[in-house]
Amino acid sequence: MDRFYVSTPIYYVNAEPHIGHAYTTIVADVLNRFHLLMGFKTFFLTGTDEHGDKIAQAAQEAGMDPKSYADHISGLFRDLWPRLNISNDRFIRTTDPDHIRVVQYVLQKVHDAGDIYFSTYRGLYCVGCERFYTERELVDGKCPDHDKEPVEREEANYFFRMSKYQDWLVEHIEANPDFIRPERYRNEVLAFLREPLEDLCISRPVERLSWGIPLPFDHRYVTYVWFDALINYITALDYPDGPLFHEFWPVVQHTIAKDILKPHGIYWPTIIRAVGITPYRHLNVHGYWKINEGKMSKSKGTVVRPLDLVSLYGLDAFRYFLLREMVFGLDAGFSEEALVQRLNSDLANDLGNLFSRTLAMTARYFDGKVPPFDTEPDDMDRELIARTEAAAQQLTREVPKLNFHKALVSIWECINAANRYIDHTAPWNLARDPARLGRLKTLIRNLLEVNRMVAVLIAPFMPSTAETMLHRLGIHKKSLELRFDTDARWGILIEGTTVDKGESLFPRVDLQQQKEGKKERPKPAAGKPAVEAPLIDFDLFKQLDMRIGTVKHAERVPRSDRLLKLVVDIGEERQVVAGIAQTHSPEQIVGKQVVLVANLKPAKLMGVESRGMVLAVKDGDNLCLLTPEKPVRPGQPVS
Ligand code: MSP
Repeated sequence: MDRFYVSTPIYYVNAEPHIGHAYTTIVADVLNRFHLLMGFKTFFLTGTDEHGDKIAQAAQEAGMDPKSYADHISGLFRDLWPRLNISNDRFIRTTDPDHIRVVQYVLQKVHDAGDIYFSTYRGLYCVGCERFYTERELVDGKCPDHDKEPVEREEANYFFRMSKYQDWLVEHIEANPDFIRPERYRNEVLAFLREPLEDLCISRPVERLSWGIPLPFDHRYVTYVWFDALINYITALDYPDGPLFHEFWPVVQHTIAKDILKPHGIYWPTIIRAVGITPYRHLNVHGYWKINEGKMSKSKGTVVRPLDLVSLYGLDAFRYFLLREMVFGLDAGFSEEALVQRLNSDLANDLGNLFSRTLAMTARYFDGKVPPFDTEPDDMDRELIARTEAAAQQLTREVPKLNFHKALVSIWECINAANRYIDHTAPWNLARDPARLGRLKTLIRNLLEVNRMVAVLIAPFMPSTAETMLHRLGIHKKSLELRFDTDARWGILIEGTTVDKGESLFPRVDLQQQKEGKKERPKPAAGKPAVEAPLIDFDLFKQLDMRIGTVKHAERVPRSDRLLKLVVDIGEERQVVAGIAQTHSPEQIVGKQVVLVANLKPAKLMGVESRGMVLAVKDGDNLCLLTPEKPVRPGQPVS
C-alpha cells in the first residue's frame, strides 16, 4: 500500500492560534484527506514548540512558570484543530518525554560521530534580549528591540558542523528538483548556499536560559530551540526503532510558510544527514496571509482568529476560501469582504443552488427517489459526464502538486456546467409532457450523479459539506471512508434511494448586516427581556470569592455521562465536580485556566465531593468554559 506522511510546523506557544497557523494546518489536512481518498496509508503530524527564550519570556510576563504557560497555550492549539476538522494522527509537544529522549539520543549520536564541537564564540550581544546578534540583524548598528548598541561578548558553546554538509546539500537540491517547492523557494535556498555556510550554535548556557532540553554530554547547557524542534518530525515516528519510522519517513513532506525556510531548507537536511538518515522527500513552502497589505499585528489589532470567522460564516466556507484564494507559494490578502464574496458566489450561488435545484426537482418529479438512466445519453449528457470526469482527474493531478486552487476551479467548472445543463435542458418543460418522462429521468439522474461526484471530490477540502451532501443523497459514509476508486465513479447511485431536500447548504450572507449585527447586542429570546434577575448590591457581589485556577488533573466520574472530577490549582489544590463531560474530554481540559467560585459550600455529586464551581456558559449545545484572556497566576481573584 502506498504511504504518505505530512507535517505542519510545530507552533510556538507564545501566541494564540491565528489564520496563518490555521492555513498551514488546513493545507496539511487537505493533503492527508486527499491521500486517504486515494487509498494511501497516511500519517499526519502537528503540535507545539515549547522551549527557548521566547516562551520563557512570555511565561515570565504572564507571571507563570514556563510549563504551566506552555500547557495553557498548547491547549488552545490542540482544542482548535478538531473544530477545524483537522485529521491529525498525533499532536506532539516538545515537552513530551519521548521527544526529550529522542533529542538527547540524536545529540549524543551526532556528538559521538564528531559533528558537534565545543568552542568559544565572540560576537555582538544584546543584554536586554540576552542573545547574540549578527551584523545583518542590527538596525543602524543597534538591537531592533531595545534600540541599543550591543556589546562584544565571548561565550563558550557547542556547535554543529553544518558547513561540512554544504556541498552535499547543494548537490542534493540540484539532483532533486522538487525537494524544496515551489521553485522560488528552492532558488532562495540555493542562493543562500552560494555563500559559505557557518556552523550552527546548538547550545545555550543554563545560567542564561534554563527552559530547554539539557545536552546529554554537558548539563551546563540546554539545546538551542531549533535543534530541539526540528527533531519532532522523527520523534513522532518513534525514531530510531519504531515501525512507523520505517513506514513513513521515506515519504515525508513538511509543510511550512516562507518565514521558516532557512531552518527547514538548511539546518534540518544537514542535521538529518549527520544522523545518517536520508532527508525528507518534499518541503512545501507557502506564502503569507497579509491584512491590509501588511503583516498581521497584535498592536494594530489585525490578528485574524479562525474561530471568529468559523462562527460567522461556517467552517467549510472558511476552509474553501483559504484554499481557493491563495496560490500556494505566493502571498495573499485576507479580507472578510473577499471571503463573503466567495461564499455568496461560489458556495451559495453555484454549489448551493445546484444541489437544491437538483433535490427539489427529484422531490417534485420523482417523489424524492433516484430515477434510472432511462434514455441513451445525448451530446449534452456526454459533455456533462466528461466535465465531471475531468474534474476528478484534475483533482488527482493538481493536489499532489499543491495546486489546490486549480483543483477547485475545475470542480467549479463542473458545477457551473451542471447549472447550465439545467438551464438548457429545462426539465420543467419536459415534466409537462408524459411522452418525455424517460428523458426527464435521465436528466435528473445525471444531475444527482454530478452532485454525488462533486461531494466526493470536495471531501478533502470541505469534509463536512461532503458528508451532508452524501447523506442527503442517501449515502451514509463519513468523508474519511470515501475512496476515489470506488466512490468517484459515474453512475453508482442506487435507483429508488430516497433523497432529502433539506435546507440550503450555504445561506447567502449580507456583509453589511453582518457587520451591523456584530455591533448590536445579541437579541434575547422572543418576548424575554435580556436581564431578568433582580438587581443586587455590590456588597452582595463581593461575597463571591472567584479565583482563576489551572486544571491539574481531570477524570470522568464513574457511572456519569455528564460529570468530570477536576483538581484545580488556585494557590491550593481543590477538587471540584463539573457537568462538562459531554462537551469536554479530560485530556482537553488539563492545563486550561478556569474561573472557580471558591467559597461555594461543599457538595457531593454522584458521591464525589466538590469544593467549588467552575463557571461556564451555555448557548444551545455549545458549552464554553470561561477562561482568562491571557494566562495569569493560579489563585488570582476575579473582580
Ligand atoms: N516553532 C516554529 C516552527 C518549528 S517547526 C520545527 C515557528 N512557529 S510559529 O508559531 O511562528 O509558526 C510559524 C508558521 O505559522 C509558519 O511557517 C506558517 O506555517 C504559519 N504562519 C504564521 N503566520 C502566517 C501568515 N501570516 N500566513 C501564513 N502562514 C503563517 O516558527
